[in-house]
Amino acid sequence: VKDGFDTFMDKEIHDQPKAVADTLLGRHDDDGDLVLDELRVDESVLRTVDKIIVVACGTAAYAGHVAKYAVEHWCRIPVEVELAHEFRYRDPVVNVRTLVVAISQSGETMDTIMAIRHAREQGAKVLAIVNTHGSTIARESDAVLYTHAGPEVAVASTKAFLAQITACYLVGLYLSQLRGYKYVDEVAGYLDELGKLPAKIQDILDREGEIKAVAEAMKDTSSVLFLGRHVGYPVALEGALKLKELAYIHAEGFAAGELKHGPIALIEPGQPVFVVVPTPRRPTLHNKVVSNIQEIRARGARTFVIAEEGDEAVTEYADVVFRVPQTPTLMMPLVTVVPLQIFACALAGAKGLDVDQPRNLAKSVTVE
Ligand code: BG6
Repeated sequence: VKDGFDTFMDKEIHDQPKAVADTLLGRHDDDGDLVLDELRVDESVLRTVDKIIVVACGTAAYAGHVAKYAVEHWCRIPVEVELAHEFRYRDPVVNVRTLVVAISQSGETMDTIMAIRHAREQGAKVLAIVNTHGSTIARESDAVLYTHAGPEVAVASTKAFLAQITACYLVGLYLSQLRGYKYVDEVAGYLDELGKLPAKIQDILDREGEIKAVAEAMKDTSSVLFLGRHVGYPVALEGALKLKELAYIHAEGFAAGELKHGPIALIEPGQPVFVVVPTPRRPTLHNKVVSNIQEIRARGARTFVIAEEGDEAVTEYADVVFRVPQTPTLMMPLVTVVPLQIFACALAGAKGLDVDQPRNLAKSVTVE
C-alpha cells in the first residue's frame, strides 16, 4: 500500500503529480472548453452569482485562500474565505445569489457540514470540492466537483491539498467561461499551463534530497517562521501548519507585508525563516518580498528561500535556496508548497515521530 515508501505521507507527497493530473483529466472537450457536467447545477444560477464564500477547515481552507486570488482575478466575483466553524455563528450575509464553496478531503468534517446546512437554509447554492465519493458533504451539496487525489491515509493533508487547489482553478475558469470571458482569455491557455504542473511537481520531488538534508540538520529547532505574499501567503500558512502537525515545532506563517507591523520583533540571530518568493516576472510583487528577505537577514535570520529557477536576486540574501520551476503566478502554490511539505515530513522523521498519525489529530473530525 505504501508503494515502497516508509510512510503514507511520503507516498502521498510523491502521488502529487498524479493527483493534479487526475483532477484535470477529462474535464475539457476537444475545443478546449471546460466541461463540468457533473456539477448538476443550473448554469443560469452560476451566471448570476454575485458573491462566493469558501468554507473549509485546516489545509482545505488554505486551498480556498489560494482560490480567492485566482477566482477574483479571472471572474471579478468577490470571494470570501471563512473557516467553516466561524461561518454560521457570525450571521453571514448569504442569499440566493451567493455561491458557497465547501472544500473538504473527507467530506465528513462536521464544522463544514454545519456551515453548508446553514448556507442552504439561507437560500445559497452550495458547490462542494470533495475527495471522497458519496460523503456527507457531497450528498448534501447542490453541486460536486470531485478531486481525484485517490485515498489519502496520512492524517495531515498533502496530495488532497494540491488536488483541491487544482479543482478551485477549474471552478474559477469554468465560471469565467460561463460568464463570457470578460476578464480573461479563453480557458485553453490556462488549461495548457495547468497541464504542465505535474511534471514541474515531479521535478521538485526528484530533487527532494536537498530539502531532506536541510531538514535533518534542523531536528533541534524549536521555532520556524514562514513568510509569503499574494498566493505565497496561504502557502506560508500551510508550511507552518505542516510543521506544527508533523514535527510539533512552533511555527507561524505571516503575510510578508505584515512583517514590519509586528512579527519582525521575533527575528533574532539564528531564527529560521522560510520565504516564499513570487516570480521575478511580477517585479512589483517580487521586489517587495526580496526587500523582506534583506530586512530579516540584516537582523540575523537564517533564510530559507523558495524561489523560481533563474531568480538570481534572492541568492545574495539566502542561506539556502530551493528552486521551483517557472510557473504562472496564480498557479505557483502547486509548486512552492511541495518543498515545505517535504521539509516538515523529513524533519518529523528525523525526530523519530509518527508522521502518518501525529498525536492528538484525527483524519476526519466528525464533531463540531
Ligand atoms: C483536520 C485534518 O482535522 O481536518 C487536516 O487533520 C484537514 O489535514 C482538516 O485539512 C480538514 O479536513 P477535510 O477532510 O474537511 O479536508
